[in-house]
This record gives sequence, C-alpha cells and structure tokens, in this order.
Amino acid sequence: MATPQHGPSSISARDPQWSAGNPPHQLPIYAASSFIFDSIEQGMAIFDGDEPGNIYSRFGNPTIDAVAHKIAQLEGRGLEGETFGLLTSSGMSAISLLGLGLLSPGDVLLTHADLYGGTVAVFRDILTPLGIEMKVHDLRDQTGLVEILEKHPEIKCIYCETPSNPILRCIDLEQIAALAKAYDCYSIVDNTFATPMLQQPLSFGIDFVIHSTTKYLNGHGTGTAGVVVSQHEDLMKGELLNKLRLLGGTASPWEAWLLHNGMKTLSLRMERHCQNAQLVAEMLQALPQVVQVNYLGLPDHTDYELAQRQMQGPGGMISFELAGGLEAGKSFMNKLQFCTLTPTLGDVDTLVLHPATMSHRALDPDIRRAHGISDGLVRISVGVEDIADILHDLEQAIG
Ligand SMILES: Cc1ncc(COP(=O)(O)O)c(C=O)c1O
Repeated sequence: MATPQHGPSSISARDPQWSAGNPPHQLPIYAASSFIFDSIEQGMAIFDGDEPGNIYSRFGNPTIDAVAHKIAQLEGRGLEGETFGLLTSSGMSAISLLGLGLLSPGDVLLTHADLYGGTVAVFRDILTPLGIEMKVHDLRDQTGLVEILEKHPEIKCIYCETPSNPILRCIDLEQIAALAKAYDCYSIVDNTFATPMLQQPLSFGIDFVIHSTTKYLNGHGTGTAGVVVSQHEDLMKGELLNKLRLLGGTASPWEAWLLHNGMKTLSLRMERHCQNAQLVAEMLQALPQVVQVNYLGLPDHTDYELAQRQMQGPGGMISFELAGGLEAGKSFMNKLQFCTLTPTLGDVDTLVLHPATMSHRALDPDIRRAHGISDGLVRISVGVEDIADILHDLEQAIG
C-alpha cells in the first residue's frame, strides 16, 4: 500500500482565509459559531475589549452586527449622537431583554391595555413573579398619568405600542417621553406597526425602541427576529448587551441576513402599504355591511390628528367591523380567495385575521369587547399586491 504523502487529509479551520479579495456585493452570512485568534495575545486583547474582534456568535457576529447597526441608523436618522442596536432572536426576546435588563424587584412598569398579548404575558408570567409589578392605565389620559406617576415613584418604566393592535389607537410620544424624563423613568415604544419609515420614537425623546422585525422590517414572512434600539450607549454596550449574551437571546446570522435582504425594499414597501391601505379603507367605508373602519388615514379616526403630527404615513394596518357580528366575521374569512388567513402581519402579502376567533380567542368576550374588539371585527395587514386584486377579493368576501 502506498504511503500517503505527509499533509492534512481533512479540512482545517486554519486553511488559507476565504475572505481574501474584494468584498461581495451582498452581506455575507457568517455561519460560524466562533472566530479564530491569531495568537493567545490577540485572543486576550479581544476578550478584554482592547482590540476589536469577534469571539463567539452568541456574543456578536459580523452579519448580526451589520443588521443591528443598519436598523439603529434608520431609527436614529437625523439625530445627534450615535444610535445603537441589539438584534435578538424574536420580538419577544427584545421585550424580555428590556424588562429584565432595566427593571429590578420592587420596580413598577406602567403600560396600557391594548398591547400585543405576548407582551402582556411577558409582564405577567416573567416580570411579575420576579417582583416587578405591571400597572395598566390609558396612556392618552395625561392628567391621570401625572397623578399615577406622582403617587408611585416606584414606576421605573413606561411601555407603549403605537399604533396599537387591532384598533390602531395612537399614544402621544412627545408627551410620554417628557413624562418619563420628568419622573425619572425609562420610556419604551414598540414601533413594529409603524417601522422607522413612518415613525421615529427616539426623535421625540423616547429612550428605547423595540421591533418584532419578523413583521414589516423583514417584510416577507421568512424569519423571526427582534431588535432593541437606543442612544443609551452605557446600557446598550453594558447591562443590556451582557444580559442578552447571558440569556442567549441573540439572533441567528441566517435570520439576520433574511432581515437585511428584506429591509432593502422597506421604504418602497411602506409607501405602497400606505397607498393600498388608504384605498382599502375608503372602499370599506362605502359598504353598508361595514359599520366601522379603523384606519389612521381616515380623517374620522379618533387619532387622525395625532398620527398626522407624529407619523410620516398612516401605515398598512386596518381593522373594520362587520354588521353581522361573529357569523359575518367567520363567513367573510372563509370566503377569501386571494388574501391569506394568518395571524402575522407586515408582509408583502395581504394578511387577514379575525381577532375574536384567532388572536383574542382566549380572552373573555366581555374583556375583548371592552378593548374595542367586537365579534365582527376583522384586521387586515394590507399587502403591496395590485390593489385591484385586493379590493376584488375583499368585496366578494363581504358579499
Ligand atoms: C406589536 C408586536 N410586538 C411584538 C411581537 C412579538 O414579536 P415576535 O413574534 O417576533 O416574537 C408581536 C408579534 O406578533 C407584535 O405584533
């Protein structure tokens, strides 16, 4: 038997570097759990933060960091100073990171009723058992808010979603930021529905923005991720980064890449979402079977003026109420042929949800109605398809 020539017969991670040459046109996916050190001295310097570099992908990875930086730039555009981003494995991971990173036992978080159900569950099932209480109040009631903040100095955070789901109510960001500053607490805004194209909460003085990037930022329903954005450098590079690494909530490079790819068309998509949604809302308003249309582009929406002031467009989300209640809602959903029945939102496709039988099914019907979610309410995330296809399908399904 011939003796093999000396030399490795398997692939070594120390093979000549693959990154040589001019850079690729597209963001590379660093599908690597860890990074190589030239020497033990370099490893020590990177670990100590004396030399820039990567260590381990749960700590950071060039693909993930590039996308976090891009979203931070979008949310912080026009602002003085740097804006920082942390990309997380989901929107829920971004929310729990802020809850666990900013609050301690004995602290109180002030929020409003019409939040995404998963967010309420994080506050109730994770923060409350740790001794962090959640207080619910209408964040549009300025006088009531001042009273609560005066009475409860233990409030350390005001958390809101604007526009909210599914009635699309708006909260005055300038007011919330000012109150948070006056009462020495952090303000957090879930900007998932608006995206940084239509609303930049940091520009009003809000401390932290979160997104479920699973929605509009990705835009194609291809990946789950989230992000925390802020100008608080100390917290973003210190406590929050540390907690994110410890909780293991970092996004994956693949999901980050999908998100990056989707974000290239974000501004185009948001423009088209707004145009299509306006036409859908106007069509629905003219139908006798529809008793109420909630869309921020309609002048009769309660928060039309506020949305005009703090947003650059009314967005792609609509909800409307069918006169026939539960049966009308169910029948409408079953008749759809072009639009899709699914509980997510923010994709290029038009997605339709019936809260009473889907997202808010577990809620007591009386509580549901108290939150404005009637049995005949339908939520539409209007996509970017040809508007004629969307209108035709909705009209035929309403009958
Ligand atoms: C407004 C909002 N925030 C946060 C989340 C949670 O995001 P994710 O599903 O990416 O964890 C969702 C999910 O639907 C949402 O609608």
